[in-house]
Amino acid sequence: MAKKKAKTTFYCTSCGYQSPKWLGKCPGCQEWNTFVEEREAAEETATFPELAVLNQGSRPQPLAEIENTPPAQGKSRIAEFDRVLGGGIVPGAVTLVGGDPGIGKSTLLLEVLANLSASGQKTMYVTGEESPGQVKLRSERLRIEAPSLYLLSATEVGAIIAHTLELQPQALVIDSIQTVTAPESTSPPGSVSQIRLAAAHLIKLAKTINIPLFLIGHVTKEGAIAGPRILEHMVDTVLYFESGTQHPYRILRAVKNRFGSTNEIGVFEMTGSGLKGVDSPSHIFLAERPAELAGSLVTATMEGSRPILTEIQALVSGSSMTGIPRRTTLGIDKGRASLMIAILEKQLHLLLADKDIFLNVIGGLKIIEPAIDLGLMGAIMSSYLDRAIPASTLLLGEVGLTGEIRRVNFLEQRLNEARKFGFTQAIIPKNNLGTADKTSITIKEINNIAELPALLFPTES
Ligand code: TYD
Ligand code: MG
Repeated sequence: MAKKKAKTTFYCTSCGYQSPKWLGKCPGCQEWNTFVEEREAAEETATFPELAVLNQGSRPQPLAEIENTPPAQGKSRIAEFDRVLGGGIVPGAVTLVGGDPGIGKSTLLLEVLANLSASGQKTMYVTGEESPGQVKLRSERLRIEAPSLYLLSATEVGAIIAHTLELQPQALVIDSIQTVTAPESTSPPGSVSQIRLAAAHLIKLAKTINIPLFLIGHVTKEGAIAGPRILEHMVDTVLYFESGTQHPYRILRAVKNRFGSTNEIGVFEMTGSGLKGVDSPSHIFLAERPAELAGSLVTATMEGSRPILTEIQALVSGSSMTGIPRRTTLGIDKGRASLMIAILEKQLHLLLADKDIFLNVIGGLKIIEPAIDLGLMGAIMSSYLDRAIPASTLLLGEVGLTGEIRRVNFLEQRLNEARKFGFTQAIIPKNNLGTADKTSITIKEINNIAELPALLFPTES
């Protein structure tokens, strides 16, 4: 068979978009300057006979005869990790764990495998980045003693497959997918086509022998190394490990999950002896809260099934010199914030049009739910009037365009969390009143944003 001619393709290193010519802006992900050239010798794709034997393929079957057995979930016994996965580890599931270098991906996955092997499972950690000695050093720091945790130093996908089939581990970690090479690609390691092909082989392996596979991938904004985003559509679950502004804390977030919700987050603290799950995230998000300062207040958000108390800060500063007021938000959608500012101007006649406004959610959380609207407006109002809101007051409610306050869901969970942290007063939507449990917390109702100043600053009305 005649070999096809080598061809040149341009790939977006951020999302994997393919183009026959170089482009400045990627039509796929709208990023600039992400295209790299790759020469591909388009040969036949490599096949691994060992896998072909196992993978007989399936035949068409009547839908009615297909049995639905929910996947058995293994527990890593790292509660924060299991929750983000949707309850536990599913056999045959492929999970991509992305994050900046140094965030703690290797540490987390080594701990996961150690826990699995502590419960008697054979597991394998493939390291292509660090030497086995370095991994050993880390395991000592983490005080891991796991006799059935195997370490393989390899970068060639054929070798990884062969060793996996021989050892038969019950869970596999590849650290990192950027170091793995596939035999049929002539592009350098870390390039888009290498990563894609190598991942495809590994995913096939995991599906064929039905073991969970974790692929670690570095996220890089620019440069020659392709980001793991190009793999997102190939895998079952995508987790991102990120760091908030308060440094030791790390947030694990699912951005795609075939086996559970993508709303759950896991919160970890990086300590001298590894990552520690944080059971009560409200603690850390309220930790450095200034007492009774204008512009700061607390609201309760739901992250998946868990309520978290978070501090919102607003800074409304004097008229801007340029005539174009600045609106900067961290952790809050900019459009939502503009909407809230417009409602405050219209309904409460606050003069915000020429003011710079900065909004921030403490602790690096990103909040998208509308239940924080009222809190956001309260914080802006507090900074604008330069009047502090009592530290023990919680604000909850979605605000509509006419200033009406709409009910929030999971009210009870949010109020419970507030009680736990000593909040004595909550301002909640009138429509939620029916379900509110008033033990040890004073509940005040609000029906329209116009009532907020009187509720927050009683003496002023
Ligand atoms: P690492 O897991 O190597 O990050 P990644 O694989 O995402 O690149 O860990 C990163 C950092 O964590 C590293 O700078 C050292 C620090 N660290 C601790 O603080 N405590 C520990 O117990 C370990 C193992 C690492
Ligand atoms: Mg690493």
